[in-house]
Amino acid sequence: MLPKLIKYILQEKALSQDVTIRGWVRTKRDMKNLIFVEVYDGSCFAGIQCTFDRSANLDKQVEAALTMVNTGASVKINGKLVPSPASGQAVEVAANSIIIFGEAPGETTEDIQAYPLQKKRHTLEFLREIAHLRPRTNMFGAVSRLRSRLSFAIHCYFQENDFHYLHTPIITAGDCEGAGSMFQVTTLDPIKEIKKSAATCIDYTNDFFGKKTFLTVSGQLEAETYATAISRVYTFGPTFRAENSNTSRHLAEFWMIEPEIAFADLNDNMTLAEDFLKYVFNAALNECQDELKFFDTYVEKGIIDNLQNVANAKFTYITYTEAVKELEKAVVSSSDLFEFKPYWGCDLQSEHEKFLTEKVAKGPVIVTDYPKEIKAFYMKLNDDGKTVRAMDVLVPRLGEIIGGSQREDNLEKLINRMNEMGLNPEDYSWYLDLRRYGTVPHSGFGLGLERLIQYVSGMANIRDVIPFPRAVGQADF
Ligand code: 4AD
Ligand code: MG
Repeated sequence: MLPKLIKYILQEKALSQDVTIRGWVRTKRDMKNLIFVEVYDGSCFAGIQCTFDRSANLDKQVEAALTMVNTGASVKINGKLVPSPASGQAVEVAANSIIIFGEAPGETTEDIQAYPLQKKRHTLEFLREIAHLRPRTNMFGAVSRLRSRLSFAIHCYFQENDFHYLHTPIITAGDCEGAGSMFQVTTLDPIKEIKKSAATCIDYTNDFFGKKTFLTVSGQLEAETYATAISRVYTFGPTFRAENSNTSRHLAEFWMIEPEIAFADLNDNMTLAEDFLKYVFNAALNECQDELKFFDTYVEKGIIDNLQNVANAKFTYITYTEAVKELEKAVVSSSDLFEFKPYWGCDLQSEHEKFLTEKVAKGPVIVTDYPKEIKAFYMKLNDDGKTVRAMDVLVPRLGEIIGGSQREDNLEKLINRMNEMGLNPEDYSWYLDLRRYGTVPHSGFGLGLERLIQYVSGMANIRDVIPFPRAVGQADF
């Protein structure tokens, strides 16, 4: 049997029973006859108060051990569960023994080794530097419990709706987004290779896979192969982008969820995205109440009301062309509203996305039918020949949280798009086979897990919602 977690001990109704507490010390206070040790184990926010009473024949060895106990030490404490006289907790432990698994040097220690997480407020910037210890704070305990719960809700949604979980490769030879921002994977030492062959370029036929390979930017193309065979699939895995964007919403390594559905057009895709997001928001509201209350108090005021409203209201749907008109209209009344002037054909900047969600829709917006030039090659061309069946789901504070589309299912048109975008159709022959043999209309989208967690928690920086962030110039731990 695994040890009982503090969250269950705190809910115990049967008093006077013997309990064993295992966890880390949050605080110790020594007051005349009483020594209070608060212990937490991360199963919930609250720690449990363990009280040692010197006047009740406290064992000398226990008293000696208590002098070694500081914030951060790991301990096992035995005692009886008793009603707590302190406010804010129903029970506490009348403790009689303690074992220290590992000490932690205290604040008063001259030693530079003093435990970095003393009981005070730390900045998120400082905590990023100690990403191996930050899960011990309330903030990061809450983020990790929320992250885990949201991941589970995502699986539940798709499993309940007959989607099959698909594992797509992490190492690939193709560039799904055709954007060229990929990390190369090689076992060759470039300098040795060049010296060896006295060539100016490296011969990748000598490489591990016999060709140039990369970390995947998306599992979509592979997901399409399975959607056009078993109808509904979703991927959920790590994704890599070597974009040089040092922003609060970009990571070089992030987790993406990509559903792909056969016999579905863009409208079906939009309905799915909206229904899916609302399901996940409701899961957070129902299953992470304590965490959301914490975020509402310390991170983003009003986040619970806001999530509730969003989960109950219809998303706004708007075409790219209409969106640009709204932005242009806004510029007419206030010419310096945006740093980047909006015009038909421009890629929407995050300031534009912010305006559309916060000022125009006052909530999430799904923007569709973007100009083909600013979107990927695989999106279905509209009859106007200028726009594609793309959709981006934008949310207040963050902008894009989902990107997706109906896929081009016509072989000739797809090859045309590849050529127009400077891609070699031969490199994608297997992908084109899906249009050669039994092609069907199909659609899908990608949700960035970290952007979802940012939206639900209100955390401003994406580096604070993933355990070990990888971004430009940052791959510590
Ligand atoms: O819009 P993107 O690039 O779309 C795709 O990759 C498609 N293949 C998805 C599909 O249709 N199956 O990325 C999808 C989402 C974005 O909306 C965003 O939430 C997230 O992935 N994302 C990132 N998250 C963190 N850091 C980055 N650098 C991200 N790039 C994209
Ligand atoms: Mg996108």
